[in-house]
Amino acid sequence: MDLRFAIRTNGSVRRFTPEPVEPATVVEVLDDARFAPSGGNGQPWRVAVIEDDGLRRSVADLMQPVWDEYLEIRAAGGQPFTVVGYDVPETITPNKPNDLLDRIETIPVVLAVAADLGKIAMMDGDLGRAPMTGGGSIYPFCWNLLLSARAHGLGGVMTTFLSRREPDAAPLLGLPSDHALVATIFLGHPEHQPTKLSRRPVASFATIDRFDGEPLA
Ligand SMILES: Cc1cc2nc3c(=O)[nH]c(=O)nc-3n(C[C@H](O)[C@H](O)[C@H](O)COP(=O)(O)O)c2cc1C
Repeated sequence: MDLRFAIRTNGSVRRFTPEPVEPATVVEVLDDARFAPSGGNGQPWRVAVIEDDGLRRSVADLMQPVWDEYLEIRAAGGQPFTVVGYDVPETITPNKPNDLLDRIETIPVVLAVAADLGKIAMMDGDLGRAPMTGGGSIYPFCWNLLLSARAHGLGGVMTTFLSRREPDAAPLLGLPSDHALVATIFLGHPEHQPTKLSRRPVASFATIDRFDGEPLA
């Protein structure tokens, strides 16, 4: 598959056919993903392939209230879970439908991705705001994984709702205390592969010299 085509068309897939994904394919996808860059080549990634149905249900039950709250905040016009602030909803309707969580037992591949914090230089860790740069050492791995999945005829989505429940998920997943739970990635054969993605144009985010400069294009 042409690289530029793949980059521009790798939309999220949350519904999968029943066709299983061979364990060897999962290994191949991870074998591609590991060529991602990371600060100092620390390669901080760890992956737990969640196979056990009971464990899958337990992590879905942790994610469900996060999803419920996310939708409630969005419905009220807020941007959920930003560190710059959002209105916390007074009431949250539980158990809102979700394609991933409702049928997590049937999803061909569920991956928990963790990052070893001891291998990440958090360059903006002392600035008094939420640090961002550490994510740059782990999310390229996640995105490589999704691009490789696409090359294998699979689709999927990276999610972070379990990260919000990290303290509860940690004992279930055996997460080491110096690791962060950075993503839960779902993979399978897509019911439908979306290729028309909604993204803002270059002129809306790129400027010359300064962030308040003239638009690039
Ligand atoms: C860092 C990150 C966190 C995300 N977290 C979630 C999530 O918790 N649940 C979910 O369903 N999708 C999640 N997504 C997928 C986004 O919703 C998706 O990439 C975005 O809406 C663009 O949609 P598209 O891929 O269909 O164009 C996440 C994506 C990223 C990159």
